[in-house]
Amino acid sequence: MGTVAFLNEAKEATGKGAVLVTGGAGFIGANFVLDWLVLGKGTVVNLDKLTYAGNLHNLESVGGDPRHIFIEGDIGDVALVGKLLNEHRPCAIVNFAAESHVDRSIHGPADFIATNIVGTYHLLESARAYLQNLSAAEQGEFRFLHVSTDEVFGSLEADDKPFTESHQYLPNSPYSASKAAADHLVRAWHHTYRLPVLITNCSNNYGPYQFPEKLIPLMIHHALTDRPLPIYGDGQQRRDWLYVADHCAALRRVLERGRVGDTYNIGGCNERSNIDVVHALCDILDAERPRADGRSYRGQITFVGDRPGHDRRYAMDAGKIGRQLDWSPAETFETGLRKTVRWYLDNTDWVERVADGSYRDWVQQNYSNR
Ligand code: NAD
Ligand code: DAU
Repeated sequence: MGTVAFLNEAKEATGKGAVLVTGGAGFIGANFVLDWLVLGKGTVVNLDKLTYAGNLHNLESVGGDPRHIFIEGDIGDVALVGKLLNEHRPCAIVNFAAESHVDRSIHGPADFIATNIVGTYHLLESARAYLQNLSAAEQGEFRFLHVSTDEVFGSLEADDKPFTESHQYLPNSPYSASKAAADHLVRAWHHTYRLPVLITNCSNNYGPYQFPEKLIPLMIHHALTDRPLPIYGDGQQRRDWLYVADHCAALRRVLERGRVGDTYNIGGCNERSNIDVVHALCDILDAERPRADGRSYRGQITFVGDRPGHDRRYAMDAGKIGRQLDWSPAETFETGLRKTVRWYLDNTDWVERVADGSYRDWVQQNYSNR
């Protein structure tokens, strides 16, 4: 019986089956929670600290749904997490909570160490304590799924093969170093304490509800507000793009069928240079929402000073999850990008609400001296 079967059975038996999602008010976490509920997978206890990146508007569509229990709090709050675990008795923890933006980690790494490393440590210890209160059968079904990134592997040369699960960890930024440290802790808690963990390392996500500090939503927002489209360096850095719903589907598959203790690379097989991504965005916007003066949005592109230590290339080999768990992405880059642009065009109020004073302060801090 897989974890989800345990969840349904537990729910029928006790009415309490649940998953604990951390960081479920952020970009990927919110998409995961919404999809989980739409698919009728059961109750979600959603623990989120509501940092600048956490946004309850992302969860408005499930506001009155009794299967969604939102708790504002920190993954490092051992008393709170222990209480939630014992009260709701989840069959899985899915850990999205993190500081996630590379540029912010360069300006101020402290929060990345606090949440991504120390927070993950406390969450692992809370899970370990909780597991001791479960029956042997429940312990056998419990999973701790840690959501990580391809950035832990460092940067590829132009003709290198994509990252496999056995690639050496070579993180380059404070963000990726903090995620790498967390991955090592999760792995060690399995090896030493037999905590039933799963680790996923995913490539760049894009889609609805992504905070407009990241490349794709920032470019859409700046294009529509007639601001420069700031390309770092020469724009030839390459990323492997995956539509967020495909990432969420992969996570469900890993939760259901993944082998305890294993890691799985997740990617879209959609490697593009940054400048090509921005050109593609401009072309979609030119067609969907032409500029009033009839010129292309490409005219707003501006090359600015590079990100310090900028990784040149990421590419994921997602062969293992394809072969072993039968997962592959449903969206191509073209279909996913068009959906994303349409979502942002249809949800300008969402963008306006998040692009508040602290967002403007961040844009000023990151872009004014480039
Ligand atoms: P995000 O920044 O949009 O969301 C992070 C969420 O975590 C926010 O809601 C925030 O409030 C919450 N949070 C932060 N610190 C917390 C704490 N101490 N306790 C509880 N909640 C806290 O991030 P995202 O892009 O949705 O990424 C989610 C996860 O996926 C991260 O672990 C990230 O490293 C990983 N990841 C992201 C991508 C990507 O392209 N965005 C790709 C691969 C992996
Ligand atoms: O690879 C997975 C990672 O992808 C995740 O782990 C991170 O949480 C997520 O933020 C993302 O990291 P990147 O640094 O790759 O994403 P970002 O959107 O910040 O930048 C993508 C590329 O675009 C990168 O090469 C930097 C460049 N860029 C970014 C911004 C914000 C620009 O050229 N201009 C910009 O204004």
